[in-house]
Amino acid sequence: MTEQDGYLSEAPAAATSGGLASERFRERAAASQSGVVDVERVNHLASRAVKALNDIVLEEAVSYDEYNAFKAWLIKVGEDGEWPLFLDVWLEHSVEDVATAHRDGSKGSIEGPYYIEDAPELEWDGTIPMREDEPGTPLSFSGQVRAVDGTPLKDARVELWHADNDGFYSQFAPGIPEWNLRGIWAVNDDGRFDIHTIRPAPYQIPTDGACGQLIAAAGWHAWRPAHLHFKVHAPGHELLTAQLYFPGDPHNEDDIASAVKPELMLDPKPAADGKGEDVEYDFVLDPEA
Ligand code: DHB
Ligand code: FE
Repeated sequence: MTEQDGYLSEAPAAATSGGLASERFRERAAASQSGVVDVERVNHLASRAVKALNDIVLEEAVSYDEYNAFKAWLIKVGEDGEWPLFLDVWLEHSVEDVATAHRDGSKGSIEGPYYIEDAPELEWDGTIPMREDEPGTPLSFSGQVRAVDGTPLKDARVELWHADNDGFYSQFAPGIPEWNLRGIWAVNDDGRFDIHTIRPAPYQIPTDGACGQLIAAAGWHAWRPAHLHFKVHAPGHELLTAQLYFPGDPHNEDDIASAVKPELMLDPKPAADGKGEDVEYDFVLDPEA
């Protein structure tokens, strides 16, 4: 997608954001997969997954009508390109818990389906790429990247991506410039950064696709609380993928993606210059194993 003239974002159809998320995932997976298959492990995990589903059918006496509704729904998840959305909302949080259980440094959270590599690079105190008239409350986000022993990590890079004031992500919704609200900051010699952006709005997962159909049929809601996505890198340290949240959001307690943790809550204050808000948060990275 290239930069477009119209700045008014519209709700993307599920098949638009889902299709783009599937495409991006396929590109990255193709670049990273080793191609090695551990037959024992696949046998073990696939057998457990199949058994878990069969147990549900037997224990809950699932009918043919229910089985066929499930089959039709699974087909539609694929047609809508919503597998990345479905998996990142309902499963990734457990994978993230397993992957980071050993850490002493900052808590992480799920990556979600909307990360894009190679965002524009900025100075330690730079402003995120945004539109001239970007709607939303200005937010200054400052802090330091450190090792667990307290040493500032002066070679760290802080990547930030987030939704706009309407809850939409660039490259996954129409009418938003390509790198809007996405950037990579090189920290200064003290490991510090001072990021200038706007506060994102809460995000609603697309309601017009298969995932929305399930949410409506089950009487759930489709909301994630407003959040900032981060990846914090430093040589010799484990990559930290995290999300940070704002106090008072009605969905902090019932995030559909189960990705909120108390350690990930920000504490914004009215800005010293009277414009928007200031917030501080430090990232502590574990050493690479
Ligand atoms: C989804 C969207 C997000 O912005 C996120 O952080 C996690 C999941 C989703 O639509 O699946
Ligand atoms: Fe998100």
